[in-house]
Amino acid sequence: MKTHKNKKKTAIITGASDGIGAAFTKLLIKNDWNVIGISRSSRKLKEISKCFPSNEQSFKYYSCDVQDFTKLKKIAKEIEVPDLLFLNAGIYSPVNASEINLDIYKNHLNINYLGVLNSYEAFLPSLIKKKNGHIIIMSSLSGWIGLPKAAAYGPTKAALRSFAQSARYDLNPIGIKVQLCSPGFVETQATSINNFYMPGLMNVDEAAKLIFKYMDTKKFEFFFPFTFSIFMKVFSFLPDKISYYLIKKFII
Ligand SMILES: NC(=O)c1ccc[n+]([C@@H]2O[C@H](COP(=O)([O-])OP(=O)(O)OC[C@H]3O[C@@H](n4cnc5c(N)ncnc54)[C@H](OP(=O)(O)O)[C@@H]3O)[C@@H](O)[C@H]2O)c1
Repeated sequence: MKTHKNKKKTAIITGASDGIGAAFTKLLIKNDWNVIGISRSSRKLKEISKCFPSNEQSFKYYSCDVQDFTKLKKIAKEIEVPDLLFLNAGIYSPVNASEINLDIYKNHLNINYLGVLNSYEAFLPSLIKKKNGHIIIMSSLSGWIGLPKAAAYGPTKAALRSFAQSARYDLNPIGIKVQLCSPGFVETQATSINNFYMPGLMNVDEAAKLIFKYMDTKKFEFFFPFTFSIFMKVFSFLPDKISYYLIKKFII
């Protein structure tokens, strides 16, 4: 019989069916975690489950839109209390802000920001009850400074950053660790639509490995790839006139 100390840890991952969420799911399971994956496409989730034929118990999944708070609460009642909540589900569409984009703006807000809050609120009570847990919120380097074509996406990631910065004051004292993950460009279907140069574009498995490495550190915000992150940090501190010029020159 396994002792409590040896009990496998459990993660809830939103957006587990593709991209970074799928790569991180596979990596956690490889490292002896159980994962509960949530995303809309049951077909894609089923494909992920096929990666663990000899270890079926390690990946449970629920097809659920993160906009559906009622369904998320229902899932929370059915599952065991997680050790890690990886709030990762998100969408990205480049937009031209000179065009009418209200539906696109609202869709980003509803999925990327309110979808994270829905998942957070649905699963938080069990962590609070346990007085222990770990939440990683998926933001982006584009939450640091407004980037070209990111007028719909960037503000949702900036909002998540601000949310996580505030939430940790209330959660840390009750034993819940909060981290913010801010990647640059990672090679997934989301970025495959970009028709511009993506500096530092990173392989999705490399990104998952870095998340796995940083989740065991005391860092609140972790970001990668290193060189592009440093450029972005500098841009966000520079006088606006200079950062505007440099971003136009190097990113557009
Ligand atoms: N790729 C990058 O360069 C990059 C950089 C920084 C941050 N990020 C962030 O990292 C996260 C993952 O991005 P990715 O590049 O891996 O994207 P991706 O390959 O498109 O995967 C997105 C995941 O989110 C799920 N999802 C989307 N809308 C959902 C909804 N309404 N309800 C539930 N699940 C939903 C998708 O599954 P279904 O379609 O099955 O629902 C999929 O599993 C996002 O938050 C993104 O903003 C990505």
